[in-house]
Amino acid sequence: MRILVKEAISQEGKMIELSGWVSARRDHGKIIFIDLRDRSGVMQLVFIPKEKEVYEKASLLRSEWVIRARGSINLRPANMVNPNLPTGKYEMPVSKLEILSEAATPAIAIDTDGYEIGEESRMKFRYLDLRRPRLQKNLRMRHRVNQLIRDFLSDKDFVEVETPILSKSTPEGARDYLVPARLYPGKFYALPQSPQQYKQLLMVAGLERYFQIARCFRDEDTRGDRQPEFTQLDLEMSFVEREDVMDLIEELYIKIVETLFPEKKILKKPFPRMSYAQAIKEYKSDKPDLRVDKNDPNELAFAWVIDFPFFEKTNEGGWTFTHNPFSAPQKDHQDWLTQKKNIPEILTTQYDLALNGFEVGGGSIRNHRPEALRAVFEVMGLSEQKIQSNFGYMLEALSAGAPPHGGIAMGLDRLMAILMNEPNIREVIAFSKTGDGRDLMMDAPSDVDEKQLKELHLKITK
Ligand code: AMO
Repeated sequence: MRILVKEAISQEGKMIELSGWVSARRDHGKIIFIDLRDRSGVMQLVFIPKEKEVYEKASLLRSEWVIRARGSINLRPANMVNPNLPTGKYEMPVSKLEILSEAATPAIAIDTDGYEIGEESRMKFRYLDLRRPRLQKNLRMRHRVNQLIRDFLSDKDFVEVETPILSKSTPEGARDYLVPARLYPGKFYALPQSPQQYKQLLMVAGLERYFQIARCFRDEDTRGDRQPEFTQLDLEMSFVEREDVMDLIEELYIKIVETLFPEKKILKKPFPRMSYAQAIKEYKSDKPDLRVDKNDPNELAFAWVIDFPFFEKTNEGGWTFTHNPFSAPQKDHQDWLTQKKNIPEILTTQYDLALNGFEVGGGSIRNHRPEALRAVFEVMGLSEQKIQSNFGYMLEALSAGAPPHGGIAMGLDRLMAILMNEPNIREVIAFSKTGDGRDLMMDAPSDVDEKQLKELHLKITK
């Protein structure tokens, strides 16, 4: 039966079986050494000419072939011990070898950290790229963070609910990805920029505590901390004030760091809170970097930014929201919104979480009364007809007995990149898009058949 490399080190003297990839091959005189790699580590296999049949097979082995090997786990001679490897004291003389799969010469080097390889090659051969220990570790740690989040929130009575991917075009600041509806010529679904409205509807539905590790889609320019599709920890709670949501996230994020990244130091607990005006004045940024030593990869400086203006002027001289049209103004400013006065002075309940100069999350308390939400759209100059066609269902839902509610969405890709000391969120996403928004491995976006276009009633004009 197959065991893992990490289990082999407690099996000294016993016959065992390992399966994995040929990570490296070294020939020393007549002896062949193979590093066998599985998901748990690397073990040195030894082949000597005396074992003729196995030796001849071993001489065929090349990088990244997949093998199964039987042998006994022995201590290495003292001068051969490698103190840098957990398995460095051991080796396995092989008595039986099977080749499970041959491999073409790898198109990219995978025995380095990969930073030196061009993005085009890494993304084209992502399945090879992902074999490097650095990326394996990123994906495994990401899984553990997700698991901790799910346990933490489940213990607090949150329910994870999946919301639709085929949805409706909404105004969340970015451009929508549209999907033509075959059965409704000329009409389109939109991929959600976030589950914002669904989670509010779940509050109307009486769930009270919702979360989702949710995929979001925004057709905007890709950057180091921005992908066209990315993942949020999205949550919403009923009968809460903004401090309740902020405290919950703070507890969760401290737990993630202290449990899974004990080498990291959180600069200040509780996280400092400052107004938008103060952040701009003192740090010239709405996502201030409060680190004392910016060269220390283990310093984590979280900071909440609050008291943002609700509206800002558009280029056309009208008003638009700064963060989220569904947010409520702060208590003292609610009448200003419904009476549409002092517009530039209205502050929103929005709270953003900054970490080392990146925005890693943001949320707010919502307008749970339909007149307040309607007032936001009116300030923005939307016609009655536009309000009805875009948000009629939302206004109707809020008239059905909506509890006061609020929530937040946390950017998990950005969090993971910072925690794993990665310069770019692509390093913590299994199959990310390139800087120019392509999937080079699958070659997407791509042309489609004329027949498909016809079914969708689409014509391409070039
Ligand atoms: P917002 O738009 O601020 O809020 O998004 C929340 C968090 O998601 C992350 N993020 C991104 N990460 C990677 N690539 C992107 N293109 C990208 N865009 C955003 C950021 C950001 O802080 N519905 C509201 C939340 C709410 O009010 O509950 C929303 O989506 O870390």
